[in-house]
Amino acid sequence: MLRDNALAGKTIIVTGGGTGLGRAMSTYFLQLGANVVITSRKLAVLEQTAAELRQLTSGRVLALACDVRRYDEVEAVLDRAYQEFGRVNVLLNNAAGNFISPTERLSHKAFDVIVDIVLKGTYNCTLALGKRWIADQQPGTILNIVTTYASVGSAFVVPSAAAKAGVLALTRSLAVEWAKYGIRSNAIAPGPFPTEGAWSRLFPEPLASQLDPAASVPLKRVGEHQELANLAAYLVSDFSAYINGEVVTIDGGEWLNGAGEFNKLQALTPAMWDHIEKTMRR
Ligand code: HXC
Ligand code: NAP
Repeated sequence: MLRDNALAGKTIIVTGGGTGLGRAMSTYFLQLGANVVITSRKLAVLEQTAAELRQLTSGRVLALACDVRRYDEVEAVLDRAYQEFGRVNVLLNNAAGNFISPTERLSHKAFDVIVDIVLKGTYNCTLALGKRWIADQQPGTILNIVTTYASVGSAFVVPSAAAKAGVLALTRSLAVEWAKYGIRSNAIAPGPFPTEGAWSRLFPEPLASQLDPAASVPLKRVGEHQELANLAAYLVSDFSAYINGEVVTIDGGEWLNGAGEFNKLQALTPAMWDHIEKTMRR
């Protein structure tokens, strides 16, 4: 979508960059000329991804193990990234954990694990890098991956919904507070984009064979990874320099369809609508 080298000279840290959407966004950033640091817990997965992305894009990729829940590990990633690339320009908080469950079945540890990865992980990375940017008087861009239910909540993914809502509040709060330092904060709220990580935890069998994730999307399809990568590349690029504090939804219209009170009337036939109109007019 963007012109060649649109991200040249930028170094971008992508948490959860070894798999799924993080990998897709990292690939496009590299194709647009950025240096990318991918981090997550599983070093073997990261190294495999880094090798494949180097081959595909000829870009510079650094794979570093880091549990975003641990501030010391986040600091160590920043030290290595600064050593390798001299500076970091963009933080993409993408790492997450999630699974579906009735809330009353969750242990407090199950609640903790999701909130810690999503919310604590995001503020750990944001704080550690933000402090460096401010101390060095260097501008920066933060992009957080949330969900459409961060704004409206959702049953059966309550720890994730609560944590993503926190990330959205962090995004909007820092957009105001840190703008004076030249730091922008934005978020993307994706609808359904098939990935192994999300699908295995949100649509396990027998749900998978009964539920079509595209059915509730007005456009009647799920998202393509490149569509998300296009949006992310724009939001971390200088072309979006005046966008700050925004959450961009990319979901084919799904959340409006689920949240609107009268959406269920889509099942009505034209003949039924004729009848209803007559009754109302009468
Ligand atoms: C209930 C569960 C559970 C489940 C784990 N727990 N899975 N409880 N139902 N399915 C409980 C455990 O019993 C334990 O509590 C506690 O959670 C911690 O579990 P661990 O397995 O020790 O944690 P860990 O090894 O750190 O693994 C974290 C994880 C795992 C979140 C559970 O799924 C993971 O690594 N996920 C990372 C990737 C991911 O989730 N990707 C999907 C993102 S999709 P006790 O009390 O027993 O000790 C996404 C999309 C949103 O966010 C929107 C889509 C439209
Ligand atoms: P995914 O492939 O499972 O991505 C999650 C990543 O987070 C993994 O690479 C995982 O790697 C990493 N991670 C988990 N715990 C971590 C920790 N403690 N420290 C560091 N990294 C950790 O799933 P995905 O679908 O691509 O999700 C990516 C993002 O998109 C998430 O923020 C998710 O909430 C969001 N999202 C996805 C969808 C969708 O439909 N796919 C919809 C809305 C929002 P390790 O296991 O190696 O740590």
